[in-house]
Amino acid sequence: MSTVLPGQTMRVLSGMRPTGRLHLGHYHGVLKNWVKLQSQYECFFFVADWHALTTHYEDPHIIEESVWDMVVDWLAAGVDPNNATLFIQSRIPAHAELHVLLSMITPLSWLERVPSYKDQQLQLKDRDLSTYGFLGYPLLQSADILIYRAGMVPVGEDQVAHVELTREVARRFNHLYGREPGYEQRAEEAIRKMGKKNAKLYRELRTAYMEQGDREALETARALLERQKNITLGDKERLFGYLEGGGKIILPEPQAMLTHAPKMPGLDGRKMSKSYDNVISLREPPAEVEKKLRTMPTDPARVHRTDPGDPDKCPVWDFHLIYSDEEKKDWVQKGCRSAKIGCLECKQPIIDAVLAELKPIQERAAEFSRDPLAVKNIIADGNKRAQEAAEATLTEVRAAIGLGYSG
Ligand code: TRP
Ligand code: SF4
Repeated sequence: MSTVLPGQTMRVLSGMRPTGRLHLGHYHGVLKNWVKLQSQYECFFFVADWHALTTHYEDPHIIEESVWDMVVDWLAAGVDPNNATLFIQSRIPAHAELHVLLSMITPLSWLERVPSYKDQQLQLKDRDLSTYGFLGYPLLQSADILIYRAGMVPVGEDQVAHVELTREVARRFNHLYGREPGYEQRAEEAIRKMGKKNAKLYRELRTAYMEQGDREALETARALLERQKNITLGDKERLFGYLEGGGKIILPEPQAMLTHAPKMPGLDGRKMSKSYDNVISLREPPAEVEKKLRTMPTDPARVHRTDPGDPDKCPVWDFHLIYSDEEKKDWVQKGCRSAKIGCLECKQPIIDAVLAELKPIQERAAEFSRDPLAVKNIIADGNKRAQEAAEATLTEVRAAIGLGYSG
């Protein structure tokens, strides 16, 4: 069971490796979701440039250009710097400090058993990934998440194990360092600071949960704590932990938020991915978009216009699943199977839909590319906000570990 800190449930964090210009797969799989989340939650989105180095340490030159291209594409897709905090991982050294501290308490076996560790080594055979950084990469991701005390992490299926590791590490951290000397006495003092009425209510709810396992009482008590304005963050952490009989909750456990996006097909029917060379990039010139779609393969059984086809064997159909309404899909199904429509005819609505989708994105991308200074300012501003949030956590973390010296 995870425990929630004030404001934590409402904070979303996600990162993306700088891989250069983004394509429709990123748009449908990630960015549309970010755009939606930014209006519902407090969002932090960052460029995971250190993560890129864990696999691409041999070709650092690609990172720098990729960072700015990617940020322009985020902005073009509608990620709004007034609504979300956009920043670059390596500009916030607090991630690294927390990573080092977490590395002290993380058993090697936890990292070795993360599925992506072996999978990626197999997939990226041409790279030497038997490095310390590569093994530690999921823990770096844990630090990315925990440093902002994020409650929700929107990720794809492949990253769920990393969030799970993050939860385990947070639990271990809280267990080891949440038990400060005089903890119970401090918690009791904190209760009194809430005022008579709230203190009484908190005690009753805590007893109901501790003695009868009343979960509703637990939830009510948490909500009560969230509302408290006149106790410090440290006291809140104590009281959240005290509710469950544990210590202070310094690093709350995040939840993975699975993105339910339809799989974006590539031009060849496989998943859209730069490594398959089957992408339509967000800044692809319209003529090129049209050409790529016109020449993309269809059901190989349709050699002649008069041969009937099967949409299930055709990558164009996957595009209809994303872009077409029921009526159009019905038109494709019937027309294809009876050879009433030709493949170019079938592709035309897709061409129109993709071009219409890309138009506003490309207009915004053009604006931002003409004004690199504006993009840098957006990031500078985000870095500053991220820095503040990260420092607040780090101060608590250092103190808990016995590194809270001043001077
Ligand atoms: N590991 C993620 C990826 O490769 C990127 C990432 C880094 C991330 N840190 C994160 C995602 C924190 C979510 C939260 O795609
Ligand atoms: Fe594919 Fe459409 Fe041609 Fe059928 S008609 S094979 S679905 S492109």
